[in-house]
Amino acid sequence: MSTSRAALPLGDVPGSAAGAAFDRIAVDYDRVFTDSLIGRAQREAVWKVLLSTFHRNDKVLELNCGTGEDALFLAGNGISVFACDASREMIARAEQRLRHEPQQSSVVFRQLPTEFLGELSGMQFDGAFSNFSGLNCTDDLGAVASSLASLVRPNGRVVLCLSTRYSLIEIFYYLALGQWKKASRRWKGYSEAKLDGAKFTVYYPTVRQIRRYFRDDFRLYSCTGIGVAVPPSYLEMWARKHSFLFGLLRRLEGFFSTLPIFRSTGDHVLLCFERIPR
Ligand SMILES: C[S@@+](CC[C@H](N)C(=O)[O-])C[C@H]1O[C@@H](n2cnc3c(N)ncnc32)[C@H](O)[C@@H]1O
Repeated sequence: MSTSRAALPLGDVPGSAAGAAFDRIAVDYDRVFTDSLIGRAQREAVWKVLLSTFHRNDKVLELNCGTGEDALFLAGNGISVFACDASREMIARAEQRLRHEPQQSSVVFRQLPTEFLGELSGMQFDGAFSNFSGLNCTDDLGAVASSLASLVRPNGRVVLCLSTRYSLIEIFYYLALGQWKKASRRWKGYSEAKLDGAKFTVYYPTVRQIRRYFRDDFRLYSCTGIGVAVPPSYLEMWARKHSFLFGLLRRLEGFFSTLPIFRSTGDHVLLCFERIPR
């Protein structure tokens, strides 16, 4: 898979296995994840970093935007967002939400798989980001890094939130249930995922690997855990039943998310890069 693929004929959007799988859950995505207690808690931590990274009037590229939650949030803070996703249904939901925005928003949604970022050549952004594991669906992060190097201006920032290789809560949770296969599912670096019956491959690069993919053009300047004390979203029912304990974990999150070892063994990791000027 590579971003240096031949240009697409105008109006022709290529498919992607992950995009097709996410098509099937787009209608329920906000109810099940975006508006869940755990989804909100994890996203709040990402928003803090996004707001300290990007500024009013910045023009930012979003990869794997899903239903547009982050794009609409940033637009509400005066940041222009060009947001892409492989899933036609996710983009349709995002556009529907945009139409219901009370004020005109500086957001454009476009169906475009990350592997075809080359289609945007000639555009220039102050920064870029990807939230909640969209980049775990691509097998060539090196190609993504080179595309971003040509799309993001020198000294521009790139913020990436990916699922980790080792999630301690996940490991302990599934081991406690005696489900070794699920406890170890990320360890070999990839696994088959299924959404509503549609299969695709999810990759789990380590922080060191991601840093290596980006090092020619980007300098890693911060690494924060997301979902280190706050559990993964499939524990939503538990979080709802145990609101006191969940509140406690939310408070502990800030402490654990910056600790070495813990920050790269949460559900996700948030990496901030700066484009090296040439
Ligand atoms: C877990 S969702 C995250 C969505 C959104 N970023 C959020 O924070 O809610 C992952 C998203 O990545 C998208 N995706 C997966 N593979 C992709 C690819 N190769 N190119 C572009 N988008 C992709 C999916 O369609 C889906 O919308």
